[in-house]
Amino acid sequence: MKPFEVYPLYPIEPVRGRGCYVIDEQGNAYLDLYGGNGAVSIGHCIPYYIEAIQHQVAQFGFYSNILENSLQTRFAQKLGQMSGYPTYSLFLCNSGSEANENALKLASHHTGNAKVLAFKGSFHGHTSGSVAVTDNPYIISPFSRTDHVHFVRMGDIEAVEKELAKGEYAAVIIEGIQGLSGVRMPGDDFMRQLRKVTKAHEVMLIVDEIQSGYGRTGKFFAHQFSGIRPDLITVGKGMGNGFPIGGVLISPDFTPVRGMLASTTGGNQLACAAAMAVLDVIERDKLIENADKVGTQAIEILSQMTGIIADVRGRGLMIGIDVNVSVPELRRKLLLDYCILTGGSGSSTIRILPPLCVTSQQMERFIRLLAAAIGS
Ligand SMILES: Cc1ncc(COP(=O)(O)O)c(C=O)c1O
Repeated sequence: MKPFEVYPLYPIEPVRGRGCYVIDEQGNAYLDLYGGNGAVSIGHCIPYYIEAIQHQVAQFGFYSNILENSLQTRFAQKLGQMSGYPTYSLFLCNSGSEANENALKLASHHTGNAKVLAFKGSFHGHTSGSVAVTDNPYIISPFSRTDHVHFVRMGDIEAVEKELAKGEYAAVIIEGIQGLSGVRMPGDDFMRQLRKVTKAHEVMLIVDEIQSGYGRTGKFFAHQFSGIRPDLITVGKGMGNGFPIGGVLISPDFTPVRGMLASTTGGNQLACAAAMAVLDVIERDKLIENADKVGTQAIEILSQMTGIIADVRGRGLMIGIDVNVSVPELRRKLLLDYCILTGGSGSSTIRILPPLCVTSQQMERFIRLLAAAIGS
């Protein structure tokens, strides 16, 4: 048997990691500005994180959710306190897509409605429900194609209002910042209008913070720049620093019903230990403050490079850089000639999602080499 081919692969295999670097068998160190699709939040092979996982797996690795698990309770408390949502409750699962599935399901049960409003350019995952609210017909199978989902342009509050007035909607789902469509920000005013309109029509507002959350933008969640409080917030990626875990933060307006949500492995002891260690390190190393400082500086420098760069968008360490050269070729060059890992969105945007411990010096080096790679 061999792995089912789903991704085009670069000819590099990391075997070790250290902070913002991944290292191959030959000892070549690559500056990681993509964090494995944005999942590596605190950095590679952080000793505190390694010890926490080692300790937990030696002590007790897994039992399903039929027995008490105080690690889950402690983790929920800490997440509530650090994220500014201490009164919300937490459902734990294993990935971002699964988190969105559960948020959509909760909204539908809660309102009794089936329809979901999503936005053009959105990406919410590859499972059936999360792909159905993703604006990419190429990845939606006939099984997931549904009339329950309607897409409108991000920013078009009149279109949102017109749809919600039909009284058929369970939820509006929006990313804190759209990632795959090229780092597109919804706008703080639009987020506030969306909150107002969803409240008025008693439709649940789901903010997908799977890519934009967990401190990446310089606040715990990207939507917190607008001051709104969604009904449901989905998390994943940076939550486990690569350990598979996802979750839904649920407003106190929801009443739990036994059997409504479930997962065999979601929130197990080992996953909670990994996720708790991530929060401890974010707090200890002031990584949210670092994301704000280093990311803001980088965006400022990039914005001044108008001759080389067509546009820069983003907040903190979620940055989209539009260039006038082929992005797949540029990424390959940065990796193979300059040992820098980057992400991409479409054919013209470089997407930067580094571990939150990246330094100003590392980002400045990247910017210098990016200019050299574009110019060469
Ligand atoms: C905004 C957003 N939502 C959901 C997902 C899906 O998460 P996962 O790949 O963990 O299922 C992703 C992954 O890229 C994402 O960027």
